[in-house]
Amino acid sequence: MTWWLVIIVGIGVLIVVTALYDLTQKRHAILRNFPVIGHLRYALESIGPELRQYIVTDNDEERPFSRDQRRWVYASAKGDNKYFGFGSDNRFDQAGYPFFHHDPFPIDADVGDEIACAKVMGEWRSRDHAFRPPSIVGISAMSFGSLSSAAITALNRGAGLAGCLHNTGEGGISNHHRNGGDLVFQLGTGYFGARDAHGKFSIDAMLASMQGAQVRAIEIKLSQGAKPGLGGVLPGAKVTPEIAAARGVEIGVTVRSPARHRTFADVAGLVEFVESIAAASGVPVGIKSAVGGPAFWEELAEHMATTGRGPDYVAVDGGEGGTGAAPLVFSDHVALPFRQAFPVVRRAFDAHGLGDRIIFGGAGKLGFAPDATLAMAMGVDMIGVAREAMLAVGCIQAQECHSGHCPTGVATQSKWLVRGLDPTDKAARVDGYIRSLRSDLLSLAHAMGHEHPGDIRLDQITITDGAGGFVPASTVVS
Ligand SMILES: Cc1cc2nc3c(=O)[nH]c(=O)nc-3n(C[C@H](O)[C@H](O)[C@H](O)COP(=O)(O)O)c2cc1C
Repeated sequence: MTWWLVIIVGIGVLIVVTALYDLTQKRHAILRNFPVIGHLRYALESIGPELRQYIVTDNDEERPFSRDQRRWVYASAKGDNKYFGFGSDNRFDQAGYPFFHHDPFPIDADVGDEIACAKVMGEWRSRDHAFRPPSIVGISAMSFGSLSSAAITALNRGAGLAGCLHNTGEGGISNHHRNGGDLVFQLGTGYFGARDAHGKFSIDAMLASMQGAQVRAIEIKLSQGAKPGLGGVLPGAKVTPEIAAARGVEIGVTVRSPARHRTFADVAGLVEFVESIAAASGVPVGIKSAVGGPAFWEELAEHMATTGRGPDYVAVDGGEGGTGAAPLVFSDHVALPFRQAFPVVRRAFDAHGLGDRIIFGGAGKLGFAPDATLAMAMGVDMIGVAREAMLAVGCIQAQECHSGHCPTGVATQSKWLVRGLDPTDKAARVDGYIRSLRSDLLSLAHAMGHEHPGDIRLDQITITDGAGGFVPASTVVS
């Protein structure tokens, strides 16, 4: 055999062995889905910082999540070294940049990674199954349909390991949601998993879906930050037997979610709906919404204060929130961003003496210690993380959720792509990420002189105003 033939055969054997290894290993979805060629991503990733540092973007430029943020989630999820060396490379003069005031005599105690919610969910309305959420961080709504079966399994198992709540999203409760994690069962305008044959809300169907599932709370979704005021269409081709079973719809038939709820049409109707669901299920019932003007919130708070009835929690989603798919104008321009949105809601409830009674949730790029801490100082009790949890299960911010071609098998229904995502390995990563976020939140709280991040006050935070000045956070976000 001539030398060049030996080299070609050698390369061929190497490719076949690599391909076999890639196809059978379970650690990297990219390699399982794109054997051999997938290594290019890792090669590029490894020299990416150098390439970008000199040629393309810096560590904080990319959106929605910067490379520093993604690196921190990946390292936390894998249990790798999550420290950064040499000092900050951030621009401290960017508008809205927060600085936390450390205490000269910080708390010197073991940090740990468990933080329970300071409030009891459902206590105000004495719900039968009121409970104190054991984790202030929870996995925000993402449905089976927008995410794959393997991703939902990983998130639910991960939630079980981390002891946090896992929101089903509006696609109903599937078998993949029954892997040990406690659930918040979300009801959108399509009432998936809680509808009759005509698409109308049905309490019986809701209770049937909850059978055997670890549902701790129910959430009525009014809107979400990335696409408020918009309905949705699930094309028949995507309605697989599994998705149809979870949603209570016909296999292969296109289903529409209306832009608004059909069961109620005003604040009094919403409160009535909340109360009827809480009475039938016994669990606390919350609402989730993006924020436009203040009128709705003032009316809701006033109604609740007057009648003594209403939701046990309110989750506010910032306009910068994520979605499986939405028109650009809605993602970019409809609904206030979290820092402007949340004070509108909290002010309304505080004005009616309800601020301490109900739980406030927040979501919108809050899955990092600085953002979550600022949110908690603004009055948020529980932090929801959606895309950050996707990163933990292997998302690489390819922004292909709407196309069905997500290369990591996270936001796709393609069997080939989904098979690359190993739910067991990725569940451990979800656990690692949630614990790491809680641990960083506790470390920061301790450094600021508090046992619980919920005790941090806005006057302990300074924010850059973008015009060369620094102002107390309370002047910007309250
Ligand atoms: C793929 C995907 C699917 C989502 N599906 C839902 C949903 O079914 N219901 C909902 O209320 N929000 C949904 N959201 C919004 C998230 O729950 C969350 O509110 C938003 O992304 C902000 O959190 P984040 O910045 O941590 O991603 C979805 C987000 C993503 C990325």
